[in-house]
Amino acid sequence: MTSVRSALVASGKTYRTEGISQRVRQINISAIKEMPLIANRVGGCVSLGQGIPSFPTPPHIVDAVCRVLKEEPLSGKYTLGPGLPALREAVARHLEEQNGIAADPDREICITVGAMEALSAAMLTVVERGDEVILPSPNYASHIEQVLLAEGVPVFVPLHTADWGLDVEGIRRAVTPRTKAIVLCNPHNPTGANFAREDLRQIAQLAVEHDFFVISDETYDFLVYDGQSHFSLASLPELRDRIIATFSFSKKYAMTGWRVGYVYCSEGLLDQIMKIHDAVAICAPALSQYAALAALEGPQDCVAQIRTVLQSRRDLACDRLDDLSEFFDYVRPQGAYYLMMGTKAPGVDSMTYALRLLHEARVITIPGAAFGPTGEHHLRISFGGTEAEIEEAFHRMKQWLEGQPFGG
Ligand SMILES: Cc1ncc(COP(=O)(O)O)c(C=O)c1O
Repeated sequence: MTSVRSALVASGKTYRTEGISQRVRQINISAIKEMPLIANRVGGCVSLGQGIPSFPTPPHIVDAVCRVLKEEPLSGKYTLGPGLPALREAVARHLEEQNGIAADPDREICITVGAMEALSAAMLTVVERGDEVILPSPNYASHIEQVLLAEGVPVFVPLHTADWGLDVEGIRRAVTPRTKAIVLCNPHNPTGANFAREDLRQIAQLAVEHDFFVISDETYDFLVYDGQSHFSLASLPELRDRIIATFSFSKKYAMTGWRVGYVYCSEGLLDQIMKIHDAVAICAPALSQYAALAALEGPQDCVAQIRTVLQSRRDLACDRLDDLSEFFDYVRPQGAYYLMMGTKAPGVDSMTYALRLLHEARVITIPGAAFGPTGEHHLRISFGGTEAEIEEAFHRMKQWLEGQPFGG
């Protein structure tokens, strides 16, 4: 595959390697972040790339932060390492209401710099050099880099391509004495799957039987469509001491830039995770924590509105894809705001396809290979952008594809 790295090198960007640790040399900036950088150099592109919802942060959150900034002298200072006590209490109430999880706000919750910090800290806490970490694949690209950064070995287990469901038997076969953890992201980025409860329960059972950790990335917990519900692995009592669940304010409250999320796990695990949190962040940004508090304590109809709008954007993207069935196939997403388009261009790898789309049609997509081997021959698109952006992107793709870019 043409890698993002080689595409960047070709475009004049070079990387220093001498003196750089092997731990860092072996990881990459994910293609999700690199494609917009390339697009920035190309100019005039419309994005179906990075998952940034088009919505502004709701005004009641912004107003609350402005008030705090003016009236609360502590708002510009470090908070306690695990976060503002009032926010941790609000998170605990939220976990109880949404998922039936009884979390101790003082011992089992830490507010983090987005779910991303929580995930990295979780991985560094439990994974040692050579430990295997199972990733149902395709998978969120950064999970791979987080495993590698902890010097673990990603073990990819393909999802069922017919519906992007979990292959429980495949996961069972992948378990070895070196298996340290599995990362489950549900609802799923990049496929939009909302995994079956029964499959999740069976994997929880496997974790108990074979004594490994479950890292549950629940960034999109609020975002399931067609009246379905989200099932949190963190609600299973049998996983009590082996689950590390991460959550985010980024998408739920349109707060991607505030960089705030949280981790929930048992006290014993959190004590260890806190060491990493202290070493890399000290605390999540204080103002963002006040924003998160306002988000949880304020009206929740903004969350339902985001879900409703994204469901109609999902429908729009699927309609447009149905028009392009000669070129792509796909599975209708049930959650999150992504889908994987299977490319019907034999012999053309996903990086080549995505770079040509970017340069020639001026549409940003993410090459599927960035999401692990099962992602090859797919492009991930996000329908988090506006209807106008989605329409324009599909219009450009249609015109480009009708020009038979890969030969007639
Ligand atoms: C699956 C998944 N996990 C984690 C993150 C990072 O979330 P945050 O913005 O809270 O760091 C993202 C962001 O797109 C994501 O898609």
